[in-house]
Amino acid sequence: MEKAAIIKMIFTDACFGKNTPYTPVWMMRQAGRYLPEYMRVRQKAGNFLSLCQTPELAAEVTLQPVEILNADAAILFSDILVAPLEMGMELQFVKDEGPQFSKPLACEDDLSSLDINRAFDNLKYVYETIKITRSKLPHDKALIGFCGAPWTLATYMVEGKGTKTYSKVKKLLYANPRFLHALLSKVTEVLKLYMEEQIKSGANAVQIFDSWASAMEESAFFEFSWRYIKELCAYLKSRYPHVPIIVFPKGISGYLDKIDGDFDVFGVDWSTPIELAKEKLGSRYVLQGNMEPARLYDKKAIDAGVEHIINVMQNRRHIFNLGHGILPDISVENAKYFINLVHEKTKI
Ligand code: CP3
Repeated sequence: MEKAAIIKMIFTDACFGKNTPYTPVWMMRQAGRYLPEYMRVRQKAGNFLSLCQTPELAAEVTLQPVEILNADAAILFSDILVAPLEMGMELQFVKDEGPQFSKPLACEDDLSSLDINRAFDNLKYVYETIKITRSKLPHDKALIGFCGAPWTLATYMVEGKGTKTYSKVKKLLYANPRFLHALLSKVTEVLKLYMEEQIKSGANAVQIFDSWASAMEESAFFEFSWRYIKELCAYLKSRYPHVPIIVFPKGISGYLDKIDGDFDVFGVDWSTPIELAKEKLGSRYVLQGNMEPARLYDKKAIDAGVEHIINVMQNRRHIFNLGHGILPDISVENAKYFINLVHEKTKI
């Protein structure tokens, strides 16, 4: 009897630090406005949120960057804010202004309106998107599920929208830490169930985005953000050890020495020198990142950025990515050039 071919998934191998024939590469926010194919599907859906909530269309845009750019992994098309939305917070994406919650949380009583079980049930469209995507994705390509870190989500839930000062959430942090911890605990409980179900639906890896990690001083970061990320990682690792976990706390290069926890890959943002991340974390975690996204504006800048990262990482214990999301006005040609260059320059 002929043996079924064993299909290797280079991305997950690399997440566990195994040697791979080349360094896998994907881009944060790789399904998005720079792709005309994305814009067409988004128009069909009506708006961004209905695109997230229509599994067939969300799956279609999830697959686009793999088909068009040859990325080694697809990332679920959704948004970190669907979790608070489905906990019961009214959310709108306002053109040119970004996401807005109409009734931000102001006091401990407001927490009673947030429902963990309802969120788990209402997020079915995400699980369905994952199932459809996984059934259509080539077997050797990984599907990455994701969520926002409890701190980043709580910040949006308290501020109501993006902020430069974080004044409302930081006032809570110092004046009413009990409320903030209660909120973070509740969000963490939702995320445990949500990420678990993403894995059960077919996600091959998961990433936790802590985009606003850098808003706090060191002691506050460990007390209000990192602690909850670690709790989420421990929950998932103890149940799904074969599913790699990627963490992406943005802008915390000053605290790398104190980073620990049960995850596999540390996402390095573009402001952190990759040499520093390698020195502090490279022996304990696989590193992902971290080309400055604006380098995608120019091919020579891409060449130099890729070369520098390869020189430091030497094709070991590394996943190529940008150091934050791709910008909406990048040319598809340059995005393709980046992915292809990484494949060419790292293959053995
Ligand atoms: O990476 C991917 O391709 C998967 C999809 C994805 C989106 N948002 C789609 C999206 C992911 C992983 C996210 C995460 C996300 N969302 C984060 C964490 C990562 C980061 O960038 O720091 C944050 C902070 C959000 C919240 C959010 N969603 C903002 C601030 C905005 C508006 C800013 C913008 O780019 O317009 C969004 C909207 C959003 N999420 C878009 C996309 C493709 C743009 C919507 C559109 O106009 O089509």
